[in-house]
Amino acid sequence: MTDVSEPIRLTQLAKRAGCAAKQPPGYLLSLLGSLPKITDPNVLVGNATADDAAVYKLSDDLALVLTTDFFTPIVDRPSDFGAVAAANALSDVYAMGGKPIAALSIVGFPDALLPPAVLGEILRGAADKANEAGIAIVGGHTIKSEEPIFGLAVVGTIHPDRVLANDKARPGDVLILTKSLGLGIITTAAKNGEDKLGAIGEAIGIMSTLNRVAGEEFAQCGGVHALTDVTGFGLLGHLRNMVAASNVGAIVDFDRVPILAAAREYVHAGVAPGGTHANHRFLADWTSYADDITKHEQLLLCDAQTSGGLLAAVAPEAATPLLAALQARGVTGTIIGRIEATPQQKIVVRRNA
Ligand code: CO
Ligand code: CO
Repeated sequence: MTDVSEPIRLTQLAKRAGCAAKQPPGYLLSLLGSLPKITDPNVLVGNATADDAAVYKLSDDLALVLTTDFFTPIVDRPSDFGAVAAANALSDVYAMGGKPIAALSIVGFPDALLPPAVLGEILRGAADKANEAGIAIVGGHTIKSEEPIFGLAVVGTIHPDRVLANDKARPGDVLILTKSLGLGIITTAAKNGEDKLGAIGEAIGIMSTLNRVAGEEFAQCGGVHALTDVTGFGLLGHLRNMVAASNVGAIVDFDRVPILAAAREYVHAGVAPGGTHANHRFLADWTSYADDITKHEQLLLCDAQTSGGLLAAVAPEAATPLLAALQARGVTGTIIGRIEATPQQKIVVRRNA
C-alpha cells in the first residue's frame, strides 16, 4: 500500500497518461480492414470513417450513439482523474451531435498498491461529472490491473437525420475549435515535475469542462456539416480523419489556433508526450507545413489532447451566429482555418491568411 500520509500522485503509477496512451493513429486502420464488413443497414456510422462514436438506428426518428473511452491517470488527484475521464468519454457523444442518456464505468485498479478509498474518489469525480451532464453511471465492470485505468462506455440518442458525422465537410466551410491546445504537453510536464509555470490547474479545468454546451449549439444552430472532438490524435490527427472521410482538403492558419502559453514554453524546453511525437510522424504524410512553421509549432498542432474541444466544419454564413451563440453560453469558439476542395485528404498549415 502507498503510505497514506503522503498525497497520492496517480500519474506516477501510469507509464503513459490519458489519451496519449492511445495506440498511434495508423495502428488500428490496417487491422480494421481485415475484419468482417459491417452489413447491418441500421449501422449509420460504423468503424469505416474513424468517427467519434457509432450510431445505430432504432426507428425513423431515433438512433443510439455508442462510444467508450478509458485510460491511465492523466492527473494526480483521484477525483480529478474521474472527472476528466468522464468528460472525455461523454465528449464523443456530443461530437456526433447526440445527447447522452446513461453510462457504464470501465475500471482497472491495482488494489495491492492503493487503498479502496482512491477508487471511491475516482468514481465520485466521474459521478459528479455525469450528473453535470444530466445522466447517471448505471453500472460497470472492474478488474485488477497493474496501473489504474478508468473510463466510461456512454450511450446517447440522436435523430437519425441529424447525425453530425466527420465525413460531410464541404469546400468553403470554416473550421471552428472550442478549446485551446497544449493539454498533453502540460500534463506531461506536470507528471515529470517540470510544470514550472503551474499550468496544470488550468489544464485540469479545461479537461474537466464538458463539451455539452458546445455540442448542443453545434447540434441546433444549423450549417454544421461535420463535427468531431480533438483528443489523442491531436488537432491535425482528428482533422485528418475529417478530411480523409470527407474527401476534401484543409488549411490551418497557425497564428489563429488557440494554444496554452505554458505549452508553447514547455515544448521549446523539449517536453512532449510520446503520443504527440507519434502523431507528428504519422501526420507527415498528410500535412504540408509552410517553411516558417517550426518543429515545435508542428508538435503543438499534433499534441495528444485528453478531453480537448470540439472541431466543426461550418458553412461560412453560419459561423458568425454560431460563434455568438457559443459566446453567450460561455464557450469561446475560434475560426482556425477552412476546408478546401484540394489537396484532397491533405492539410496545409501556414502562418496566417
Ligand atoms: Co472523439
Ligand atoms: Co474517443
